[in-house]
Amino acid sequence: MNKFQKLLKKKNKEKIVCLTAYSKNVASILDNHCDIILVGDSLGSVLYNFKSTRSVSLDMMIKHSKSVKMGIKRSLFVVDMPHNTYRNSKEALKNAKTIISQTKCDAVKLEGGAKIINIVKFLIKNNIPVQGHLGLLPQSQKGKFNYKGKKINERNKIYKDAKLLELAGVFSIVLECVESSLAKKITKSLEIPTIGIGASLHCDGQILVTDDLLGLNFINVRFIKQYANIKKIINNAVSAYSKDVREKKFPEKKHTY
Ligand code: KIV
Repeated sequence: MNKFQKLLKKKNKEKIVCLTAYSKNVASILDNHCDIILVGDSLGSVLYNFKSTRSVSLDMMIKHSKSVKMGIKRSLFVVDMPHNTYRNSKEALKNAKTIISQTKCDAVKLEGGAKIINIVKFLIKNNIPVQGHLGLLPQSQKGKFNYKGKKINERNKIYKDAKLLELAGVFSIVLECVESSLAKKITKSLEIPTIGIGASLHCDGQILVTDDLLGLNFINVRFIKQYANIKKIINNAVSAYSKDVREKKFPEKKHTY
């Protein structure tokens, strides 16, 4: 059974665990615990302080993904296609092929539904495994981030988009900031797994940005649960190191040739 079949088998049986990684060392820790590791274009805001993910380039995604690949042995490895790299089918295929050949990832993720459906179909027809992404779409979102599925039109559109993506052949769909009853309806009506972020327990799986979970990148949004305060741990370690250096307690003889 390949990684995609294994993932599909988990639907309605066990939850799918997913996290983001941007580098080898973190990926190698996550790999023992995750079903999917995503190099998300969230790296633009998390690592580079960009105001939006729209400034992330293909080159940045490839460099971080190459690093992440070195840390992955078993998880399904997905890479986000950044903004302006899939404006038409030809461009999407060229860039998806570049991502896959350079990073050796298993699949790419694209944001959107009906608007990009022909592009998604074209990629899949050309043997590129695709993960969908609906709800809040950071690459197209202007202004304040809000959850999706409040209004009936919006609910119908997201639901229809999910069905279209499934029909097009995506292996899974990320639902970002989708209202709980809509996430439930979508998850129940699809045969492929949904992966939620701010989209309730009804989804088949869950993803978070790892830096948020670890308390490295503090942002105050409802759907994040902080599981550690790595900032504090790093701060304590660096403080002890600087004290030792200043007080000539490090390096000791045992650290010296
Ligand atoms: O860019 C990203 O990290 C993502 C996840 C939050 C789903 O798309």
